[in-house]
Amino acid sequence: MSDDPLPPPPTPAPGRPTVRTAAVIPAAGRGVRLGPGAPKALRALGGTPMLVHAVRAMADSRAVSLVVVVAPPDGAGEVRSLLDTHALHGGPPSGSRGSTDVLVVPGGESRQESVKLGLDALPPGYDIVLVHDAARPLVPVDTVDAVVEAVRDGAPAVVPALPLADTVKQVEPAAAPGGPEPVVATPDRSVLRAVQTPQGFDRATLVRAHETVTDDVTDDASMVERLGLTVVTVPGHEEAFKVTRPLDLVLAEAVLARRRLNDGF
Ligand code: C5P
Repeated sequence: MSDDPLPPPPTPAPGRPTVRTAAVIPAAGRGVRLGPGAPKALRALGGTPMLVHAVRAMADSRAVSLVVVVAPPDGAGEVRSLLDTHALHGGPPSGSRGSTDVLVVPGGESRQESVKLGLDALPPGYDIVLVHDAARPLVPVDTVDAVVEAVRDGAPAVVPALPLADTVKQVEPAAAPGGPEPVVATPDRSVLRAVQTPQGFDRATLVRAHETVTDDVTDDASMVERLGLTVVTVPGHEEAFKVTRPLDLVLAEAVLARRRLNDGF
């Protein structure tokens, strides 16, 4: 990880102004659904902490020149040294990879608060912000690039999305977990999407959303929706799944094993 001053802006394509992109990675969750142990972001996948995979996934995009990691409130020092001991760019050498700076800041009680603390730490000069869950360590670089591209093309907020395999029911939640729950509606599956991260934003829009919206939300794009702005989707990727339950760790290890076989690293 580099502690050098922030890099100069990349040379823009002809006719396109330079727009710098930063990624904020909220990684302050405990991950209780994964079972007892270290905070989720620090659990190993293929021998490397999940957070390191997530940082690499952002740094592998040519567009991203700064990553802000939001660490557990009492674990910023530990996260900083963890990142210092791992090479930022994993995988085979590639001419497309440049330098990426990494800041580490302490997080908050909720995901929303952690993202806000990450945004507060962003230096000026970054006009596009990605917000990427540490819990999605294996998102492919093409998905990251597609999100950035859509924001560069003028969308204020962009989410990677996939159609649903399961039919979804809206229920009257039971008082106690596991109790029977009356179904109240079955939304038309063809218009539903499961959304992933990184979600991409025009920075000013995301900052305004975090300053204005106080409702409890589970992603950043829904805050922008509440401002009355249109959020658009780009195709998501099945490997961008969120590591939430123990079975997801098994799947993530299998994806990594397949990549090693295919890429020879
Ligand atoms: O809990 P959930 O899986 O939705 O968390 C999504 C992401 O938000 C994870 O990467 C987690 O580390 C992060 N988070 C956070 N601060 C919190 C709670 C969750 O950064 N207080």
